Amino acid sequence: MITLVYFEKDSVYQSAREWVLAAGEIIRSTIDDPREVDTKKNANDLVTEMDRKVEAYFAEKIRTTYPDHLILSEEGFGDQVDDLKGTVWIIDPIDGTMNFVHQKRTFAISLAIFHQGIGEIGFIYDVMADIIYEVKKGEGAYKNGQKLAPLTDKKNLSESILMLNHLWCTPNDQVNHQKLGELVRTVRGARSYGSAALEFAYLSEGIVDAYISFHLQPWDYAAGVILYEEVGGQIVQATGEPLTYLKQEPTVAGHPNIVNQIIENYIELK
Ligand code: 2AM
Ligand code: CA
Repeated sequence: MITLVYFEKDSVYQSAREWVLAAGEIIRSTIDDPREVDTKKNANDLVTEMDRKVEAYFAEKIRTTYPDHLILSEEGFGDQVDDLKGTVWIIDPIDGTMNFVHQKRTFAISLAIFHQGIGEIGFIYDVMADIIYEVKKGEGAYKNGQKLAPLTDKKNLSESILMLNHLWCTPNDQVNHQKLGELVRTVRGARSYGSAALEFAYLSEGIVDAYISFHLQPWDYAAGVILYEEVGGQIVQATGEPLTYLKQEPTVAGHPNIVNQIIENYIELK
């Protein structure tokens, strides 16, 4: 039996946009306040009261306005989400918490909305720069109101800038480091900005060409994937399989004509 679930895309979009901007203002206005920093899985996996406060803000708004929607999120205010049926909000209140704590810039609010398994809406808000990247699937991707151009047709690895999450070099990682080293020497340059969401936004702008991260959670990449696919970018698991949006996944993103080259020649999962 098919269950039809009503989804008013434009009004959900407007609510989400308003909340993202308001949450950004909360963060910005208190950026210099003293901060208590806790750790999660390891000493470098940081969380602050602001991560929790912003996620709680979204959870309260969503539950009040859309009580039948579900939330998949980083800091514990969400639901147990086992599939993408119905409407699911995937939220990272602060993506790039280490940047938030140490640098007070280059972090983002990342918010995606899936309906019946399809990524319909995405926002990536660079809070301190006040730059909002936004997408409504099929209606274009925008940076502060300016439409992002589709990716141009060809890219050689030797002329590409690659972004990497530094955690690829941790000793227990199940990846061939030598091969990744070869990739870094093959591309024109390598970068690591410390916020996956912003790294997807930069891909979508076309100012970088590929991204590899072996540890991304759905809330780190969900909005980024919707944005990047809208301009013709490709994102897959490092095995080449599609993303599930439900668990941690090793991720490769880039211009479609270099993603396969990277996976086939430079990524060897042990
Ligand atoms: P976060 O700030 O929300 O934790 C850092 O390069 C990027 O990887 C950020 O987007 C960060 O998201 C994400 N990331 C995911 N898992 C991580 C981990 N265990 N430690 C540090 N960063 C992690
Ligand atoms: Ca986070």
